[in-house]
Amino acid sequence: MTSSTPYDVRDAEVIVVGSGLAGMTAALQLAPRAVTLITKTAGLPGGSSLYAQGGIAAAVGPDDRPEDHAADTVAAGAGLVDAAMAALLTRDGAALVRRLLDDGLPFDRAPDGAPLLGREAAHGAARIVHAGGDATGRTLVTALADRLRATPSVRVETDAFAVDLVLRNGRVCGLLACHPEGWVLHRAPRVILATGGIGATFARTTNPAEATGDGLAIAARAGARLADLEFVQFHPTALAVDADPVPLLTEALRGAGAILLDRQGNRFMPDEHPLAELAPRDVVARAIGRRVAAGEPVFLDLRPALAAKPDGFPTVLALCAEHGLDPFAEPMPVAPAAHYHMGGVVTDADGRTSLEGLWACGEVACTGVHGANRLASNSLLEALVFGARVARDVAERPLAPLPPFALPRPPAVAADVSHILLDAIGAEARSALYEGAGLVRDGLGLLAARRKLDRLAAALDMLRCEGDDAHEDAKAPPDIVRQWGEARNRLLVGRLVVHAALAREESRGAHCRSDHPLPNPIHGDGATTRTLTLSDLAGTAGPLSGDAACCIL
Ligand code: SIN
Repeated sequence: MTSSTPYDVRDAEVIVVGSGLAGMTAALQLAPRAVTLITKTAGLPGGSSLYAQGGIAAAVGPDDRPEDHAADTVAAGAGLVDAAMAALLTRDGAALVRRLLDDGLPFDRAPDGAPLLGREAAHGAARIVHAGGDATGRTLVTALADRLRATPSVRVETDAFAVDLVLRNGRVCGLLACHPEGWVLHRAPRVILATGGIGATFARTTNPAEATGDGLAIAARAGARLADLEFVQFHPTALAVDADPVPLLTEALRGAGAILLDRQGNRFMPDEHPLAELAPRDVVARAIGRRVAAGEPVFLDLRPALAAKPDGFPTVLALCAEHGLDPFAEPMPVAPAAHYHMGGVVTDADGRTSLEGLWACGEVACTGVHGANRLASNSLLEALVFGARVARDVAERPLAPLPPFALPRPPAVAADVSHILLDAIGAEARSALYEGAGLVRDGLGLLAARRKLDRLAAALDMLRCEGDDAHEDAKAPPDIVRQWGEARNRLLVGRLVVHAALAREESRGAHCRSDHPLPNPIHGDGATTRTLTLSDLAGTAGPLSGDAACCIL
């Protein structure tokens, strides 16, 4: 940044990073405490919640029980779900969704006012509540954003890119952010990461551009414990068009009767799994992915679903129309795309991480509720339940006042770095991860991805200039710093995912290794969730100087 760039210091009781469902839930529940919500998006709401078509899974039906929902969650997670956390998610979740229904949130209802409950893959009961048909996420986060804007205790900072946590003696004391007007040190004794997932670190994803794994990378650089990073869920039915992100064709379509067809118009899922189109998500994704990789296109015939639920899929219809496709006339081409990260920053039941003063909730967190494979529509539920739990814990937990500390030195990027160069690095990183650590992996592919990502990380690190020694006019402006920061996060997240995927020499849930096609039986008891920190990566994965640039004072 140039010599005229200001460096501001702002104080808050609590900082929330992220503008999706988890972050907004936490910020709202913390009122009237002074919360600063920082988001790199241009407005509220942001993040993947806005794109969630599926719905919210909750045992609110007359014959359903949270225990049954928990059992389905545990079964989907392929041996790695923490059963106590699944019990908590489904118990708190049912109560919370009932409360939202009573509060009059615009969920889809029958004429008698009862919620309409949909069914999705691997759920033993119809327990998915929707709002606006397939616009559940959008309806919910739009309503929350309105409430947030009307909450005077929450200060919202948009277009603000969180770069690194500031730590003193192992305690989080705030974070350094790059704003359009310059650097800001947000000083606070409590920071909540709610930055969402990592989909945009892959070349093909259903996630919005902001899903670059920022929170995961920030926590990693600060030394937080991370887990289950190898488990990336690919959604089976993204529209096979040239778009970024690729539009989602919700699983609820298959729940309502849509069928998968090969090029000859034949159904193939009944031969793949007894539940056919409603088989677990990873099974359907691999059945489609195998065909697509062999050059055999796959189609989703939406017509049975559109006939069964004429008002159920306005988002899907709009997305198809945007791409000049008519799902009433013909089946839609589909292919899998990166969708959801089961792994993340390790937290306990209250969202506390391994670092004093740092909490995490939503997709960036790893609570143990998803294990190796998330059950459909459990993600909005997780954001609601753990957003609320984090807020309660943050509000109740006494912390000593912040120790005095010097202003941290922000990372500096050289003035001649261009968007074109950073675009190229970002695109190469995304392709490397998608090719090497995609739906089906093997050791050789993962090693090739690791080499490529290491090389790109080293190249990116060369674009920094020497902080204090560099003349201010030799430093890049905020928009370049932000893009450089996103590339740094993408590369770190990619290398962490590859590291974890190489270490797990078995196939389990969403982690499928063609060179280790079976689950390892000794890993079947839920005790083998793998945790790691940045220092584990340093042993094998090359240069870390850029990654170590967290503000530890
Ligand atoms: C979908 O609508 O198919 C996605 C929902 C989810 O990821 O849970």
